[in-house]
Amino acid sequence: MSKLSIRDLDLKGKRVFIRVDFNVPLAAGGQEITSDKRIKASLPTIRYALEQGAGLILASHLGRPKGKPNPEMSLKPAAKRLEELLGKPVKMAPDCIGPQVEAMLPKPGEVLLLENLRFHPEEEKNDPEFSRKLAAFCDLYVNDAFGSAHRAHASTAGMIAFVPQAAAGLLMEQELRYLTLATTNPPRPCVAILGGAKVSDKIEVISNLGKVVDKLLIGGAMAYTFLKSQGQPVGRSLVEDDKLDLAKSLLDQLGGKLLLPVDHVVVAEIQEGGTNEVVENIPDGKIGVDIGPRTVDLYAAEVAQAKTVIWNGPMGIFEKPPFDRGTVGVAKAVASSGATSIVGGGDSEKAIKSAGVADRISHISTGGGASLEFLSGITLPGVAALTEK
Ligand code: 3PG
Repeated sequence: MSKLSIRDLDLKGKRVFIRVDFNVPLAAGGQEITSDKRIKASLPTIRYALEQGAGLILASHLGRPKGKPNPEMSLKPAAKRLEELLGKPVKMAPDCIGPQVEAMLPKPGEVLLLENLRFHPEEEKNDPEFSRKLAAFCDLYVNDAFGSAHRAHASTAGMIAFVPQAAAGLLMEQELRYLTLATTNPPRPCVAILGGAKVSDKIEVISNLGKVVDKLLIGGAMAYTFLKSQGQPVGRSLVEDDKLDLAKSLLDQLGGKLLLPVDHVVVAEIQEGGTNEVVENIPDGKIGVDIGPRTVDLYAAEVAQAKTVIWNGPMGIFEKPPFDRGTVGVAKAVASSGATSIVGGGDSEKAIKSAGVADRISHISTGGGASLEFLSGITLPGVAALTEK
């Protein structure tokens, strides 16, 4: 990577500002964390910086509080969980700027978590004065918040102008290593599996990955827009009628690289446990809800030959069993392939977990929007702003 790494910094005795992504899901009321995955993912960087003798200021956003303090989006539960995971005290600041925070700044070996950055509207506005205030707390800056690297906010981009050195944390490096491998020079054959409801959400990813991968396997409701653009019957399935020309041009552009489902699970109404059937041609009045078993076999055969697999988006309405069979079947095929496997965050991660194969995936990204933008070929502002080596 051309950017400075935390390993390139002299951290001893320094106060280091680490932008983490502790935007974790909370149960109603905001007291209890329902997944601590992102906190655990930041531990290697936090432990490394402490071992090197730094004092740590950790900062994150949580939710979308619209520039106002909101106790339901406080980072206090994250401080508590981090304290348990680290096995050492984590001080919680009442704000992210101001004299009270200044009075709490950490000595070497100490950890201070700032309160939600988005309680101030200046964070999302990337306000220079707010950026300067955040930067004034520290000697060095580290960005480990890959999940927020697609945001050009004060803590992810703006404050870097006011620090002497800005480096990538260990999680950020790992994310960039896998995603760069997938999008530049992947071991071949390289297969991308793209699912989800809308072609419009994935146009850039399809076009960008289409240039790199050997095969692109399509599932989820966006397959019906592609099928309809070829004149195939789709019944009452979800279709973006205003994207039919676009779907047709992507098919023309990608030729035989792009594979569509050859059979479908269809229902009369979408309801959990409702009756369904497998068809090759979707009858009038029926709705496609998942890829069928022949498609699972076809896609599994492609994945079995692959050396690299990139996956983003489920193959059907996987949150309503039994319409999760296609997604689970493909997830198992990816896990058994032996290929380097890279899975985008969000729904794809949930699908991998519900298939019980998360521990056999090489890399599950901690970023939903960020990984999608990266796979689309967009330069992430939080990465671009870091210091060159
Ligand atoms: C995420 O969860 O994708 C990141 O934390 C970014 O959050 P945001 O979409 O609210 O900017």
